[in-house]
Amino acid sequence: MPTLNSVPVRVGSRVLSTGSYRPDQIVTNDDVAGLIDSSDEWIRERSGIVERRRCAPGESVTDMAVAAGAKAIAKSGIAPELISMVLVATVTHPYQTPAAAPEVAFRLGAINAAGADLGAACAGFCYSLGLADSMIRSGAAEYVLVIGVEKFTDFVSPTDRGTAFIFGDGAGAALVGPSDHTGVGPTLWGADGEQKDLITMSQSWSEYRLEPRDEFPYVQMSGQQVFRWAVSEVPKIAMRTLEASGVTVNDLTAFIPHQANMRITDAVVRALKLPEHVVVGRDIETTGNTSAASIPLALDRLRQADQLPSGGLALLIGFGAGLVYASQVIELP
Ligand code: COA
Repeated sequence: MPTLNSVPVRVGSRVLSTGSYRPDQIVTNDDVAGLIDSSDEWIRERSGIVERRRCAPGESVTDMAVAAGAKAIAKSGIAPELISMVLVATVTHPYQTPAAAPEVAFRLGAINAAGADLGAACAGFCYSLGLADSMIRSGAAEYVLVIGVEKFTDFVSPTDRGTAFIFGDGAGAALVGPSDHTGVGPTLWGADGEQKDLITMSQSWSEYRLEPRDEFPYVQMSGQQVFRWAVSEVPKIAMRTLEASGVTVNDLTAFIPHQANMRITDAVVRALKLPEHVVVGRDIETTGNTSAASIPLALDRLRQADQLPSGGLALLIGFGAGLVYASQVIELP
């Protein structure tokens, strides 16, 4: 029997660079409060959000992904032709087909790249980073561009009290490449489909086609239940991730969780007993919850503010609709 060629196996991968894109338009709490009988005070207190960004008319998921991806590529110094795979984590690309990634790869000049979208909601960036690491270590890819991008403006109802003030638009990217040591620790990931209805669309496309109930299908959330799940499960997942990577909270430079709600971040920081020196991602205050984009946006902002020394370790953890989660410790670029 003939044997098949195998591709070389690499020791590790690491994040080489990051990039981000925030739309220009700032939407304040007062701008959203009127339609949901809320107030700036309530929104700040219950979510930690002060403002979020919104796309300009005509600005798309792919436009934002290209803007963030271009910055990550430029900072890495890697030629776009060397990228083997573009993974776009998103749940708000408004086309059933084609996926966003092939267009994004083309517009970035990544002409030799495969491209696919990944739908794991607010865990999408960490899911994609886990896949990128596996692909690079197995030899299936050399450089992988991971982008988290969302345009929730298209899928949030401005009159839905439970979500209208939470979500925002934006994109963040990371270029991942080969490394002679482990720069992306083991990814801990999972899914609990029994809880699929906690964050879901108001109607499926097929229901909407047969009998439109709403102006357009939009995201709905059982906020309290999601909150309770996150506060109880995220610290456990984080501890298991640290253990799998062979480090403790004392070894961390940064903790960058999905930006779901400032109170969830505060509760997890308390439960993990994070030492004072650990920088915590709190980008939600000015960005809102941008689902798959929230972790790379927070990461890039802290890097731009020079708060994250290169070579330090950051614990990332994404969690959300599905329910799904994914987490890993990375070496900072
Ligand atoms: N503005 C003003 N009041 C509101 C409101 C709003 N937008 N939404 C709810 N309320 C009121 C309710 O009517 C209720 O009033 P009552 O006590 O008089 O009955 C009170 O506020 C509490 O409602 P509740 O639904 O329990 O709010 P909450 O404290 O759970 O906060 C969320 C709501 C959405 C901020 C919170 O549940 C949350 O952040 N959940 C997790 C969301 C999340 O992380 N999502 C992303 C996952 S990826």
